[in-house]
Amino acid sequence: MQSEPTTAPTPRLGILLSGRGSNFLAIHEAIVEGGLPAAIVAVISNQPLAAGIRRAETLGYSCWTISHRDFPSRDAHEEKVAAVLEAQRVDYVVLAGYMRLLSSRLIGGFRNRILNIHPSLLPAFPGVDAQRQAWEHGVRVSGCTVHLVDEGLDQGPIIVQSCVPVEEGDSPESLAERILVEEHRAYPEAIRQICTRHWKIEGRRVVFP
Ligand code: GRF
Repeated sequence: MQSEPTTAPTPRLGILLSGRGSNFLAIHEAIVEGGLPAAIVAVISNQPLAAGIRRAETLGYSCWTISHRDFPSRDAHEEKVAAVLEAQRVDYVVLAGYMRLLSSRLIGGFRNRILNIHPSLLPAFPGVDAQRQAWEHGVRVSGCTVHLVDEGLDQGPIIVQSCVPVEEGDSPESLAERILVEEHRAYPEAIRQICTRHWKIEGRRVVFP
């Protein structure tokens, strides 16, 4: 008797964003073009006016605007976000310009299943305005980092990094633009690796055996 070929289920992504959503779009395009075997099953914004959530609606995704201003506490807001992600049976939470610090509810509920992209070569220049921080420091090379999210700010185990040279005559803005181009390549690539390869955490390291 011939056995049926087994296929792994398509990983389900939940996107959290707060702004323009260009990284979300890069992930969407990678999926549509066949380079990323995953499905976006939820897009959530904490900002009602975020361009990214409008774009996601236009593209036909299941979208939620969950404004933190409508909740009495950080925990209450996050509980609602977590409830949507869980109801949509999300495998990986993808932070795509989500301008909220996560608390233990989400980090613990999706341990090692939350990804973030940061526009510097971590651990240099964590926090806000990383491209400006790098430019002001006078570094010759910056870039972007995709990492797993833990309790520390921009500190979780690193999945992918990509370098961007700082050019003579760069401004923080021009540097940020070139880093963004790399972000749009690095984020789908990191998600692809996490979704399609075996991996484990060893100390601070994401190891692909
Ligand atoms: C990106 O620079 C990302 O690295 C940072 O927030 C920005 C989001 O941009 N975390 P976009 O909303 O994806 O265009």
